[in-house]
Amino acid sequence: PVTRCYNLELVLKDLAPDGFTRPVWTANGQYPGPILQANHGDRMIVNVFNKFGDPATIHWHGMFQKGTNFYDGPEGITQCAIPNNVTFTYNFTIEQDGTYWYHSHHLGQMIDGLKGPLIIYNPKDSYLGKYDFEYVMTLSDWYHDPTSILLPKFSSDSYKGFAPVPDSGEISGLGQYDCKAAPKNSKCNPNKKIATYIVKKGKKYRFRIINTSALVHYILSIDNHPLTIIEVDGTLVKPVTLNTIPINIAQRYSVILDANQEIDNYQIRAHITECTPIDNNTLNFDSALNYDVTGILKYDGAKDKPPTSNPYPLNTSEECRDVNPNLLKPYFEPKVPQNVISTFKTLVNFGAAASGRAIALINNSSFVPNNNYPTNQKIVDGIKPNQLSNNDNPLTYECDSGDCDDAAVEIFIINNTTDSHPFHVHGHDFFVLYNGENNSDIKSPHKSEFNFKDPVIRDVVTVLPNSTTVIRYSASNPGVWLFHCHIQWHLSMGMAAQLIESPSIFKNTTIPSDVTALCAKDRG
Ligand code: C2O
Ligand code: CU
Repeated sequence: PVTRCYNLELVLKDLAPDGFTRPVWTANGQYPGPILQANHGDRMIVNVFNKFGDPATIHWHGMFQKGTNFYDGPEGITQCAIPNNVTFTYNFTIEQDGTYWYHSHHLGQMIDGLKGPLIIYNPKDSYLGKYDFEYVMTLSDWYHDPTSILLPKFSSDSYKGFAPVPDSGEISGLGQYDCKAAPKNSKCNPNKKIATYIVKKGKKYRFRIINTSALVHYILSIDNHPLTIIEVDGTLVKPVTLNTIPINIAQRYSVILDANQEIDNYQIRAHITECTPIDNNTLNFDSALNYDVTGILKYDGAKDKPPTSNPYPLNTSEECRDVNPNLLKPYFEPKVPQNVISTFKTLVNFGAAASGRAIALINNSSFVPNNNYPTNQKIVDGIKPNQLSNNDNPLTYECDSGDCDDAAVEIFIINNTTDSHPFHVHGHDFFVLYNGENNSDIKSPHKSEFNFKDPVIRDVVTVLPNSTTVIRYSASNPGVWLFHCHIQWHLSMGMAAQLIESPSIFKNTTIPSDVTALCAKDRG
């Protein structure tokens, strides 16, 4: 293991990912941000120079941050935001490998562009040798208005919580937008660039696919090329070959593509759907956002001409869902922790604030981060979880003796809405014991239905409408970890809670002074 040092300069830059020019919140002037790479076991040092003119943070999605909870990134939970013109260094050891990403965790900043891939290699990866080359493919939605315009509208009292409609979708930061729809006085050039991946006939490619969207679910396919899944959210799985791969927000898949077809161009299709009503005044949310974002798989030697390949039939029943969890089997036999120390039943709802504003609730409380005084600093300062405010939604548990790897925390995510929600847990991956659908009584899946034998391990799971999903993970990482829906609009409505893991151990943590220095001294 070595130390990898990266510099990220956060700068605004006018870019036109889909042809429409807008200011983009970039890292190093790039959108998507640069691909950060390391090996299993390495130490990552990332110097962040904030020149946005806005505060910023970066979250390392999927990293365990064992012993470095304060470098996890979410504002108000583990740190205050990095002020403009300040340099802050994230410093953590990587205990895992696979396909990850990083993104801002300050307001809607990720939607404005601050996000990129984080790829961790394992020199002993069991699939090495099964492919010749690899590519990273990010999928995203894209808005032309910055969130400084969208968020205040979205959170105003008169707005009813319908998510803003993205203007386009993108593959690896390239989208197509019809400039005829652009407002006058805007700068728009129909984008001629289309995401293109060049392959050599006879070779095999690992594609690392990341859905970095704010709102949309994708179903990915590449004409004539079935895709063999080998990795899910950083965990290897036994190979399973599919023609279409549903991928929800913040999820990742590695797939192997065999370039065994005729030398030609083949269409890549990322079918876009939103899984919560959007504000386009139709409220007919099945037909509202429903198109393919396209790219090209180009065989070396193929002529420059648009693909004429035929799509695989779209399976609309895959919209707003995960790959069937029964198909995804961990490559190594999973060790599901057995000693359940806490079970939480989290009821997910929409509601209205007194002002009329639409909000999201977990157990009747809508999460509001305290951006002056992050929860982990409160715990270290001696504020007990039960003294936190109601809006902090603390879910507290302790493993302070014995084998914490075997100490299991179980969360029943009870979705009492008609939307599906991609739920994420910071600092852990989890076993999906049960992924219910349309349960008649959504509150009581029975243990006899749980998969303890070979459950899929991931860090984002789709909880289906009016259904309950049950996840379980090891309580072996003391700290304060966010648990939330990864639809950015739902997060901003408060669809989040904090997991306060082993506070009696964590309270003895020394939070580095460069972290506490980000916070104002007077914390009222
Ligand atoms: Cu991708 Cu709170 O995280
Ligand atoms: Cu949601």
